[in-house]
Amino acid sequence: MNLDQIRSSFPILQRRNYLNSCSLGALSNRAEDRLRDFTAKWHDLGASAWYEHWWGALGDLRGRIEAMFGAPGGTIALMPSTSACLAAVSSSLDWSKRNRIVTTELDFPTLLYQWKVRPDAEMVVLESHDGVHIDPQQFADAVDDRTLAIATSHVFFTTGAIQDLGAIGDIARRAGAYSLIDGYQGAGQVPVDLPATAVDFYTSGPLKWLCGGPGLAYLYVRSNRISALHPTITSWFATKDQFQFNSGEFRYHEDARRFELGTPALATVHTSLGGQEIVDEVGMVEIRAQNVALTERLVERCRAAGFSLRVSDEPGTRSAIVLVRHDEPGAAVARLAERGIIVDNRPGVVRASPHFYNTLDEVDEFVEVLGATS
Ligand SMILES: Cc1ncc(COP(=O)(O)O)c(C=O)c1O
Repeated sequence: MNLDQIRSSFPILQRRNYLNSCSLGALSNRAEDRLRDFTAKWHDLGASAWYEHWWGALGDLRGRIEAMFGAPGGTIALMPSTSACLAAVSSSLDWSKRNRIVTTELDFPTLLYQWKVRPDAEMVVLESHDGVHIDPQQFADAVDDRTLAIATSHVFFTTGAIQDLGAIGDIARRAGAYSLIDGYQGAGQVPVDLPATAVDFYTSGPLKWLCGGPGLAYLYVRSNRISALHPTITSWFATKDQFQFNSGEFRYHEDARRFELGTPALATVHTSLGGQEIVDEVGMVEIRAQNVALTERLVERCRAAGFSLRVSDEPGTRSAIVLVRHDEPGAAVARLAERGIIVDNRPGVVRASPHFYNTLDEVDEFVEVLGATS
């Protein structure tokens, strides 16, 4: 797919300068067609559609996510949200011998809340020295024989900085701890090869960079870890032979589905498949290359216009989440929206996040209008 073909698949791009994919990826015609097909089958077949079509769609989606991660079959569970992934993982760990979680101040709050609510958990929250990164050495210095897991992000939503999953996985493994990575801002904008790292758990979902909408999350569990993990929040989807309806016996699924928490949001399974098809066709290497070009242009133009940025100084660890310091970010975002430019704000920053379907002209327009209206 060339850029024109890609852009014609996302109707919002004909109406708006859409630069907010780290909040919500754009909806494609393909995702919408899939949704239409889902509702048509629902009208036509009712519950029979489950057996003839929808059950297969769950398997297709798990398979596509495994392929995107370079991971073997049976390593993905379909979950309701990142928070649910974290809760299920937390419930599967043995807290009796180790109870310390090493996390960071740059991670998304839900990743920290998971341990804050556990009276038996002890948290070590690493502070960033530069407000942008956590040095892998900080993880290495923080882990010890009480550490149950390192829990941190692939890409920080606060700064867009990409973390070194290889280093983090190795540090956790050497300490005898698990590595649990929140990849919501990673998968779909940065290539991910999980078996090439020692990462044990990786969570992601279709909402943002995978252009599949809200209602679903993906939990990767390293294959050689699965059999020893026994989540204690569970469902009939987590059982072997779920259609035996044997309420007298609970047997965990042999693969990562043992983490699943009931019927997945089927409408989102369909929109996710539509978005994922495009991501897979374009390919993660190509997507990352386009996002690097857009990000570098954005950074260069913002700096030339005199804006101060909260991003990594090294292009290699920069992602397409670009935070522009601003005194009145909410008002700036509203003014940009009046001009058809959709970005977001967080405390003290305007946040732009272009994706592979954007153009350099769109990035330039954002900087020009931000400059002219600030
Ligand atoms: C890094 C990160 N983790 C988690 C979430 C949200 O998780 P949940 O699926 O539980 O709403 C977000 C954003 O919505 C996020 O940016």
